[in-house]
Amino acid sequence: MITFKKVFMRYPNGVTALNGLDLEIKEGEFVFIVGPSGAGKSTLIKLLLKELEPTKGRILLDDQNITKVHNRRVPKIRAKTGVVFQDFRLLQNKTAFENIAFALEITRTRGKDIKPLVTKVLDLVGLKGKEKSKPQELSGGEQQRVCIARAIVNDPPILICDEPTGNLDPDTSWEIMKLLRNINKSGTTIIMVTHDKEIVNDMKQRVIALENGVIVRDESKGVYGYDD
Ligand SMILES: Nc1ncnc2c1ncn2[C@@H]1O[C@H](COP(=O)(O)OP(=O)(O)OP(=O)(O)O)[C@@H](O)[C@H]1O
Ligand SMILES: [Mg+2]
Repeated sequence: MITFKKVFMRYPNGVTALNGLDLEIKEGEFVFIVGPSGAGKSTLIKLLLKELEPTKGRILLDDQNITKVHNRRVPKIRAKTGVVFQDFRLLQNKTAFENIAFALEITRTRGKDIKPLVTKVLDLVGLKGKEKSKPQELSGGEQQRVCIARAIVNDPPILICDEPTGNLDPDTSWEIMKLLRNINKSGTTIIMVTHDKEIVNDMKQRVIALENGVIVRDESKGVYGYDD
C-alpha cells in the first residue's frame, strides 16, 4: 500500500535527511518508526503527507506515484492519510465537536451527515459528553483523543502518528495506544514515530529503525533497541 523507492530528501540548506530509502508497508500493518533525533523520521512522514517533495526517488500510495503530481490531485492523495501530532494542533477557540466537524467541512461532507459522524467518532475515542469542551478544558490525553477522532473521521485507510504520546504520562500513553490498536484492528494501517521504548517493546509490532536517513533495522515483532 505504501512504497518508497530509492527516496532521497535533501533540504535547501544541504542536509540530506533521507539517503536512498527503500520501504514497503502493507495494508493493515502497525509499524513503529524509531531512531535517534535527526534520523529522518519526521521527514519520511512529511513526504507521505505531501508537505515535502523528495529530491529523488518515488513514493507510491496504492500503486499511484504521489511524487510530482499536479496540485489539483493533492487533496485526493491527502484524503488517504489521517495525521496525529505530539502537540495536538487543535483549534483553541473551537469545541471538541467543532474541531472534528471542521475536518468534515474541509472534505465537503453534507451538512446533515456531520453530526452523526462526529458523534460516532467521539464515542469511539471515549469522549462522549465532552463535545462542548474547548481544548484548554480537556486533559492532554483527552486532547489527543480529539486529535485522533479528527484524524479518522473521514475514514482514511492510513493513520500517521508523529510521537502521539510524546506529551503524555505513561498511563495516559497506554490508553492512547489501546485506542490506536483498536483502530488498527478495524483495518486502518498505522505508522507511528516514537521515542517511547516501553510502548514499542510491549506492543510487539513491526519496528523500522532509521539512522542517518537509511533503514538500519526492520523487524516484525521488533524492539526499540536504543538507550535514550
Ligand atoms: N526544514 C528543514 N530544513 C533543513 N533541514 C532540516 C529541516 N527539517 C529537518 N532537517 C534536518 O533533516 C534531518 C532529519 O530531520 P527529521 O526532522 O526528519 O528528524 P527526526 O528523525 O524526526 O528527529 P526527532 O526524533 O528529533 O524528531 C536533521 O538533520 C534535521 O536537522
Ligand atoms: Mg521528528
